[in-house]
Amino acid sequence: VNKYSFQKDLIEWFENEMRELPWRQNQDPYRVWVSEIMLQQTRVDTVIPFYNRFMELFPTIETLAYAPEEKVLKAWEGLGYYSRARNLQSAVREVHEQYGGTVPNTPKEISSLKGVGPYTAGAILSIAYGIPEPAVDGNVMRVLSRVLGIWDDISKASSRKIFEEAVRHLIAEHNPSYFNQALMELGALICSPTSPSCLLCPVNEHCLAFAEGIQSELPVKTRK
Ligand code: ADE
Repeated sequence: VNKYSFQKDLIEWFENEMRELPWRQNQDPYRVWVSEIMLQQTRVDTVIPFYNRFMELFPTIETLAYAPEEKVLKAWEGLGYYSRARNLQSAVREVHEQYGGTVPNTPKEISSLKGVGPYTAGAILSIAYGIPEPAVDGNVMRVLSRVLGIWDDISKASSRKIFEEAVRHLIAEHNPSYFNQALMELGALICSPTSPSCLLCPVNEHCLAFAEGIQSELPVKTRK
């Protein structure tokens, strides 16, 4: 893959086709953070109304830090996985107390927050701060396994590092935010698990699986 040509085709597509989602209104790290936590186990369409209501109730780090936990859990009702809400509020309180209310912008500090794993850390660093860190979730592994022909089993935890390395090589240093979001968006809109729309894909000319006609064999996923 020619990485500059890949980046250009991917990012131009994203600029034209990206969905207007409430967490894309601005780059506020807190807003990005909340969205990524909600999106971890819940679909975009389900998240949107919850996200909007949550942001009306708790528009800032400070309002969430001072909110009673029961009010936060109430706002989370319907999203499930309540430990996400508890961890989020606990981490937000730590940011309030230890970092003066500013979400930290280093991989080490941000990863130390409760509920912030490697994916969420990379998403916040790239989308909110423009730092070229990988944000590899299932969508991104699916896209890259096909484009690059990566045969590692994505149901193995150890595979994520392989994909993170691939992103480190490919990422657009000038626009890591759009690069990462475009990979997610491509996985959501085009490069679907069972019937990818390869003829509409902006990076099909860079895609090994498309060239070989083996889209249905990738990604390798033994467990589900
Ligand atoms: N899924 C996870 N993060 C996302 C984002 N920022 N936009 C759309 N879908 C997502």
